[in-house]
Amino acid sequence: MGDYESSTMSEKELKRRKRIRLAIYISIFVVFQIIVIAIFSVTVLKAKTPKFRLSEIEIQSLNTNTSSLAFTTKVKVKNSNFGAYKYDNSTIAFTYQGSFVGQVVIEKGKAGWLTTKNIEGVQVNLNSQALPTAGDFTLNSNGKMTGKVDLIGMIKKKKSTEMDCTIGINVEARMVRSLECK
Ligand SMILES: *[C@@H]1O[C@H](CO)[C@@H](O)[C@H](O)[C@H]1NC(C)=O
Ligand SMILES: *[C@@H]1O[C@H](CO)[C@@H](O)[C@H](O)[C@H]1NC(C)=O
Repeated sequence: MGDYESSTMSEKELKRRKRIRLAIYISIFVVFQIIVIAIFSVTVLKAKTPKFRLSEIEIQSLNTNTSSLAFTTKVKVKNSNFGAYKYDNSTIAFTYQGSFVGQVVIEKGKAGWLTTKNIEGVQVNLNSQALPTAGDFTLNSNGKMTGKVDLIGMIKKKKSTEMDCTIGINVEARMVRSLECK
């Protein structure tokens, strides 16, 4: 009688332990899944703001008689999203001491996922009496790009990005001394 009771007790105890172990496994699995989903949603599913900037400016002509400045530049659109960034036509404006001196339009396009789109050889022609005729001067370049990120090819999110670059130019040397973008 006593032996019988103790054997059923241990069987019950064994079952109880199995259930506890199973519950622990399920809890670990659930916690693991939550962590995976959380990481996925903050990395892959989070729409990050693309970066829009100028680089490699090459002056072609700078004529102080006609107050004109022509140069080519590369425009970069850096997309660090897990999905393509499709952007609309965007205008980049150039100013000198707050005065508008010219602009260039970047046609709509697409920057692939986790890539930087380089728009090569963009021609910029500035023509303004406001441009200085000697020494060093600073041009500002500003623009806003609007578009949509297509996360993992399924979730569309609107994202816009702004350009804010400062270009240092020397008139006599017809040279770009500095280029900084925020
Ligand atoms: C600007 O005008 C001056 C005098 O009129 C002339 O000597 C010079 O060659 C001109 N410069 C350019 C770049 O046309
Ligand atoms: C974008 O620019 C192109 C060429 O400059 C023009 O043909 C087109 O109509 C523009 N699209 C929009 C939506 O403004």
